[in-house]
Amino acid sequence: MSETKAETIAKAAGLIRRGGIVAFPTETVYGLGADATNETAVRRVFEVKGRSPSNPLIIHVSGIAAAARLADMTNLARQLAERFWPGPLTLVVERRPDSGLSPLTTAGLPTVALRAPAHPIARDFLEQADCPIAAPSANKSGRISPTSADHVRWQLGDAVDMIVDGGPCRIGLESTVLDLAGPTPAILRPGGISKEALEEVAGTLADPEQSALRRSPGTQARHYAPKAALRLNATDARPGEAYLAFGPCNLTAEKTRNLSPSGDLAEAAAKLYCMLIDLDQSGATTIAVAPIPDQGLGAAINDRLRRAARR
Ligand code: TXA
Ligand code: MG
Repeated sequence: MSETKAETIAKAAGLIRRGGIVAFPTETVYGLGADATNETAVRRVFEVKGRSPSNPLIIHVSGIAAAARLADMTNLARQLAERFWPGPLTLVVERRPDSGLSPLTTAGLPTVALRAPAHPIARDFLEQADCPIAAPSANKSGRISPTSADHVRWQLGDAVDMIVDGGPCRIGLESTVLDLAGPTPAILRPGGISKEALEEVAGTLADPEQSALRRSPGTQARHYAPKAALRLNATDARPGEAYLAFGPCNLTAEKTRNLSPSGDLAEAAAKLYCMLIDLDQSGATTIAVAPIPDQGLGAAINDRLRRAARR
């Protein structure tokens, strides 16, 4: 008899409590989780991903009360969390000295990145594990983030203790990382919550490009990258290239995928990583990508494409 969902989550939470590492679904991408207070477990997450120890992890919590045990949740942090949690927003705030977090999780920084995910499996998992869960995206460092359990299996396979399969991720792009510890709130990584939506609560945000270069350790290198080269803002495919379209498109070549024939940015975000993996596996050496409008979720899509295109 196959396990029920409740049994699977209980097993995953048990593994976390015993210091194991577990891949689990969130509404953004799959995470590779460890008890954030367990130094040995957290070290394993860095090793399995091949991640630089200077790049801190996001700590997943059930909500504001759990966040306030780890960090200084300022008035603005609370307002933002009330509006956008549970959901794809990560807040960088000052870590409390008595947080109990492994110093590895924050790469020795005085700040910590916190997020309460909305996926029902992630929520049950957090509640049963009953500890803050450090979880980067469940991919090899620099590669495409997984939006399905199969993608995790291909990249990390037996290196993790368990993979909880929650189907495809609804949003498909990572959370927006918002820095509240600096002089002005600033987006360090665009993501599932748009700048426009954040500004309704936080007022005008600092320029994302400048702040990202200044303060987020993980946002500079080539990242989210397929093996193929990317050619961005391409209105058609050259001979031999695969093509990633957006909006109405009459290219029907075998190696063409369309992020959203109707031009819907949320649909495009949800399909981006999966289609990049598909086209990469087609064996093309270059993937040409259609222009994507830069507002709302489009800003996060373009951020990932630009970084995937870096050589
Ligand atoms: O949607 C997501 O955010 C996914 C799911 C699993 O929650 N997680 C994720 O984690 O994307 P990761 O480790 O791949 O990306 C975390 C980002 C990195 O760019 C890292 O540099 C930044 O958050 N970050 C973490 N702690 C930070 C801190 N204290 N200050 C500045 N940036 C921080
Ligand atoms: Mg990542």
